[in-house]
Amino acid sequence: TITKKVLMLPGDGIGPEVMRQVQRVMDWMAKKRDINFDVTEGLIGGASIDAHNNPLTDETLADAMAADAVLLGAVGGPKWDNIPFDIKPERGLLKIRKEMGLFANLRPALVFDALVGASTLKEDVVKGLDIMILRELTGGIYFGQPRGIEERDGVRFGFNTLVYSEPEIERIARVAFDMAMKRNKRLCSVDKANVLESTVLWREVVERVAREFPEVDISHMYVDNAAMQLVRNPKQFDVMVTTNMFGDILSDCAAMLTGSLGMLPSASLGAADETGARKALYEPVHGSAPDIAGQDLANPLATLLSFAMMLRYSFDMGDDATMIETAVQNVLKGGLRTADIMQPGMAKVSTSVMGEAVINELNKLV
Ligand code: NAD
Ligand code: IPM
Ligand code: MN
Repeated sequence: TITKKVLMLPGDGIGPEVMRQVQRVMDWMAKKRDINFDVTEGLIGGASIDAHNNPLTDETLADAMAADAVLLGAVGGPKWDNIPFDIKPERGLLKIRKEMGLFANLRPALVFDALVGASTLKEDVVKGLDIMILRELTGGIYFGQPRGIEERDGVRFGFNTLVYSEPEIERIARVAFDMAMKRNKRLCSVDKANVLESTVLWREVVERVAREFPEVDISHMYVDNAAMQLVRNPKQFDVMVTTNMFGDILSDCAAMLTGSLGMLPSASLGAADETGARKALYEPVHGSAPDIAGQDLANPLATLLSFAMMLRYSFDMGDDATMIETAVQNVLKGGLRTADIMQPGMAKVSTSVMGEAVINELNKLV
């Protein structure tokens, strides 16, 4: 039996609620599968601010660096709306991504057959959808300098800088092409090269890397059009690669193709070291959902599917990952729905009942 060190960072709002369901699945796996999890729990975001006046302490960061993988719930909420910008919950999340070097954020949008009717879009538009949005995660306007709010000649300015270096673009492009090679060999790079020089360079570098991957059908699209095309005909895409902020926006948009933001998992990966190992953090795409927090209403599936991604990408346990995905699919087929994916004639269940149902299905699969 192998043992993997996992750092769990439940965070705020619905974070701890959805994380509890993953913990149950981990306990189940420890009993039934060939793996043991050495789990440490840590604080991040508002929870860490409350305890340490700091959204990410050096201790949590050190634990993250020492772990085989990190699983995160969500951070933020109205409670911390009025604290200084530099110690807001979201700063903790951005810092852990940056410090761990997690430049590649995989956000797959997959429509489960049972949920085709849960999307706000027409069934034939989303049925069978399986796309991968690859978001650059440690650069771009989120991190560019200079940034701030300053007064000049009696006028206040708020400013951020959208900047990408060639190496930053090249490494995310390589991940994108590698991924396209493993999928349907179609890659769409999304930019705003008609307006922004940083993405003129982006397009140029993506084109250059493309020459090393002649089998991949590469296309480029402006982000405004890409947002429209995602809703008009999402199945035209296979892999999409884009900048930090465009990827943030497009992935929430893609979430609604699947029925709910509560269905979208993600993996954030660093560069491979000499042994091929990568730093990795897994988290749902959604946030702390303050509007439903504390009510056992949240959909835990995005976090559970993020855990499945951990098994696949960090622990080379693709079969176990598939088993969890199959269990989720079977629960949905059986008609159970959390409120966000509720459909007529289905049974509305809580966060914890959904978690329990996944365990029941897992038991049928072993
Ligand atoms: P949000 O993703 O938290 O919520 C948006 C909407 O989706 C809400 O109506 C919410 O109820 C719903 N929703 C989200 N996840 C759900 C789930 N699992 N099940 C059912 N419904 C779900 O976005 P927001 O409201 O813009 O932000 C709230 C807070 O979360 C803010 O502080 C924001 O900064 C933070 N946030 C954190 C992360 C993260 O930790 N990765 C991501 C996005 C937002
Ligand atoms: C996400 C979130 C974060 C982001 C925020 C909370 C910093 O929206 O993970 O998608 O913008 O990256
Ligand atoms: Mn987001």
